[in-house]
Amino acid sequence: MKTRYSLGNWKMNHFKKDVLHFIDNFKPQSHCHVQIGIAPQLQHAHYFQNREIWLGAQNCSQYDSGAYTGEASACSLAAEGFHFCLIGHSERRQYFQETNEICLEKIKATQRAGLYSVYCIGESLEQYQAGQTQEILKEQIKSGLDGELDFTKLLIAYEPIWAIGTGKVPSLETIEQTLKFIQNCTEQDFQQQVPTLYGGSVSSQNIQSLSEIACLNGVLVGGASLKAEEFSSICSAL
Ligand code: 13P
Repeated sequence: MKTRYSLGNWKMNHFKKDVLHFIDNFKPQSHCHVQIGIAPQLQHAHYFQNREIWLGAQNCSQYDSGAYTGEASACSLAAEGFHFCLIGHSERRQYFQETNEICLEKIKATQRAGLYSVYCIGESLEQYQAGQTQEILKEQIKSGLDGELDFTKLLIAYEPIWAIGTGKVPSLETIEQTLKFIQNCTEQDFQQQVPTLYGGSVSSQNIQSLSEIACLNGVLVGGASLKAEEFSSICSAL
């Protein structure tokens, strides 16, 4: 059975007491083919070190070291036991002006460090309504990846921006079609198969039906990953 990924993106949420409460109560009944991961705020990372779940960062610098105040290098994250790094989340693209080209530099940095990159792509509501989803995703794949990458250390997370934190989820058919489209793009452009995750309002309510999508290789979960019981159910359902 292929590995499925259940990754939590905690964004800028939780204080120490919430993290400790989560750790005490997080008890997924998942199988060995489900790889669970959590990307907390960096100051909380040490609570997750040496556990079975993967530790993730929500972002990293494209540079390996130097005078870049406020940044964290991928190689220093790897040295602290991180396993993966999200790259190009729509909030980073929107609020921190990250372009596809910057994402590619960051993916290269994570690969130099030996981390998995979870490259986030997705269209806005306007683009969705204008029927431009595939065009946008194709460009994000073409410009954000290149043939020199180690594709064994890459995951793609499809997150329609309009589904993030809104409770709106595309239909199962749309998700399936879009994941297949992304998988075809990486095969055509780079002759590589890349595990493809869905993200955007994933919850314990919809995970059962999402997990029936055969080509879904996992989920990237925001709000619902903050609660131990909720995230446990999501991991167990996969
Ligand atoms: P929600 O699950 O809260 O919609 O967030 C999704 C997300 O942005 C994960 O990266």
